[in-house]
Order: sequence, then structure tokens, then C-alpha cells
Amino acid sequence: MSYKNIFDAHAHYDDSWFDEDRDELLVSLPEKGVCGVVNNAVDLKTAAKAIEFAEKYGYFYAAVGYHPENIIGIPDDYLEKIAELTKHPKVVAIGETGLDYHWDTPKDLQKRVFEEQIKLSLDLKMPLVVHDREAHGDTFDFLRKFKPNALVHCFSGSVELMREAVKLGCYVSLGGVVTFKNARHSIDVASEIPIDKLLLETDAPYMAPVPFRGKRNDSSKIIFAAEKIATLRGLGVQELLDITAENAKRFYNIND
Ligand code: NI
Repeated sequence: MSYKNIFDAHAHYDDSWFDEDRDELLVSLPEKGVCGVVNNAVDLKTAAKAIEFAEKYGYFYAAVGYHPENIIGIPDDYLEKIAELTKHPKVVAIGETGLDYHWDTPKDLQKRVFEEQIKLSLDLKMPLVVHDREAHGDTFDFLRKFKPNALVHCFSGSVELMREAVKLGCYVSLGGVVTFKNARHSIDVASEIPIDKLLLETDAPYMAPVPFRGKRNDSSKIIFAAEKIATLRGLGVQELLDITAENAKRFYNIND
């Protein structure tokens, strides 16, 4: 079965896992039905890479920002640098940023850098891509306080938390996790989320769906999550891909 209109709302093609065949792969994705990819930076170096790929590939876009795992030793002028990068026509969002309490990066520093990037997204009126890992309480305190135009990526919360995210105006993206056997939360969220608030993502090269779990992920493999979610929703797979691609373009303000 071949599909079109696959929009991957969140990926990391700068990752070294793609070093040996990145160009070959990125050239091949549109042939596999991929119509859009937003490469999310985790620091300034990966932001530059994301922009480089976006200049090379028409369907490719960049989000620029600092991931909470990459903020030890963050440059003092990082916000100015990110703001400067957002002037590029293919930069569509600030991100990914957020809170990650799985690792032991100091929470105070994480919160400061998250808050600064939220405020930058509000100042620049740009979408914000939020990473929330084992930090729902604090992440949602920030979302409630500042109400950014945000995508909570790889959403791992409950249905109740999803409802609150939607109430705050956020979008939610889901990926390979919905194909995992133990993914009760993701499956419930996929079943219940208002369909106009759902985006699909890979988080490639990570989070590969069953039957590729543990292997390298790429945007064409989104169809395994799409098939699962379409079944849960009683939609056709192509119909779901069409809707979620529209949602992604609306969220990222992509008009082509
Ligand atoms: Ni990511």
C-alpha cells in the first residue's frame, strides 16, 4: 500500500545515525509519500544543520532551540543567536525545548532556559515545540502561565492531561509509541484527542515503530503509527495522513 501526504512533525536528521546515507535517504523520502519534515534542533550546532538540510530539500523545515539535555554550558547569548536564526524563511518554530526529569540536569537551569524560549516564541509569534519527559507537573505549570502556541511532542501524558493541553490551545504529536504493546496512555490519547489537534511524528532516528523497534527510524515509517491510529479512530489511513498533514501545516504556518 502506498500513501502520500506524510508530514513528520518532529525528527532529528542531524543525528550521526544518518551520517552514512543521509542524502540518499532524504532524496528518497518524497518518493515514499513524505510531503514535509520539521527537523528539530537540540542546540545551535544542530540548528545550523537543520537549516542546511532545509535549504537543500524543498519539503524540509527547521525548528531551532535548546533541548533540556543539551543546556549544560549553554552560551550566554544563545537567545540572540536563536532569534537571529528564526529570520531564515525555512525556520518554522522554536524548539525543541522543555523539561526532562529523566536525567539529572539541574531543574533550575532547565526551567530558566525553557521559560526564556517560551518568551522568545511569544515575542516572535512563532510556534514552540515542547519536550516533556517525566516532568508533566512543571511543564504544564509553564503552559498554563504563558499559554504559548505549542506542540507537545511525543506526548506521554494521560487523556486528562491531553484534554488540558488542548484546552490551553496546544497541539499534540504521537509517533511509534502507539504501536508498542505497553503504550496504554498513547493509545488512549490517540483515541480521544480532537482530530484537528493531532500531528504525527517519528522523533527519528529514535522511537521506531513495531516491527522496527530499536532500529533506525525515518519519516516513511510513520505509516505504522498512522495505521494504528486510523484503526482506533475508524478512519482510512490516507484520510488520517491528510488530516494530520493539514494540522501540521496550520500549526507551523506552512502555506505551500
Ligand atoms: Ni526530539
